[in-house]
Amino acid sequence: MKGIILAGGSGSRLYPLTKIYSKQLTIIYDKPLIYYPLSVLMLGGIKEILIISNEETIPHYKRLFGNGNELGLNIEYALQAAPNGIAEAFILGENFIGKDSVTLILGDNIFYGYLDFLYKALENSNNGATIFGYQVNDPERYGIVEFNEKGEVLSIEEKPKKPRSNFAVPGLYVYDNKVIEISKNLKPSPRGELEITDVNNAYLALRELRVEKIGRGVAWLDTGTPEALLQASNFFGVIEERQGLKIACIEEIAYKMKFIDKAQFQRVIDGIPKSMYRLYLEKIHESE
Ligand code: G1P
Repeated sequence: MKGIILAGGSGSRLYPLTKIYSKQLTIIYDKPLIYYPLSVLMLGGIKEILIISNEETIPHYKRLFGNGNELGLNIEYALQAAPNGIAEAFILGENFIGKDSVTLILGDNIFYGYLDFLYKALENSNNGATIFGYQVNDPERYGIVEFNEKGEVLSIEEKPKKPRSNFAVPGLYVYDNKVIEISKNLKPSPRGELEITDVNNAYLALRELRVEKIGRGVAWLDTGTPEALLQASNFFGVIEERQGLKIACIEEIAYKMKFIDKAQFQRVIDGIPKSMYRLYLEKIHESE
């Protein structure tokens, strides 16, 4: 299984925060936003990861993560020269994906809670597509799934003016290898993008699309506006302070997932400047 993080986009709704740096580098409580989606892939056991972004931002991600080897990962980078849509990720990532299945997560999507929905999808990943449905209050902003009374999927619509349900499709998608061919055959939408919703509808037409509803115990947070950023920061600040445990701490996850051993974990810690973050990792290292 390969993983892709799509982390481009202009982030215009967050101007002037995004005048200098990209949305996925904005801060959620105590770490850059992109740590949260990266940690979801890692918790899914995915070690081979492609980060797709624009020319300006790729150097920043390289400074953050390098080739990922320190954390037992293999991170590559690819350029999306223009915002041509989410589905372009599979065309840009064709060589990286090779003959494997692929999980795509959008660099601004945050999930918090038990990820059983993802683990289940990953078990089934050689065979069709699994996407998710999450109940939201503002369905016109997302890809929306329509179900019939039997719970079967009837349609998926991108940002419908009159949504047929409250179930939005989060930016986390698990596909078999066909996704490359499907994406290559897409035509740009009226907004000029290769739409991920069109990929999902292609799988639906093949009767190979599963939509798993994510339960209310999981938080899927939005990061599209300053209010949403503040809410997400407060949310994670409250939980981290209460438990004394960090969320989306990629070094800790690499260690707990056994991507690195204890000695390598110590070397990672040695490279981190004196900070609360380092103290936290030292505590984890000692406690095991
Ligand atoms: C994109 C997708 C949409 C999905 C959303 C999740 O929207 O097009 O289907 O529900 O991500 O974050 P956009 O980022 O273009 O608003």
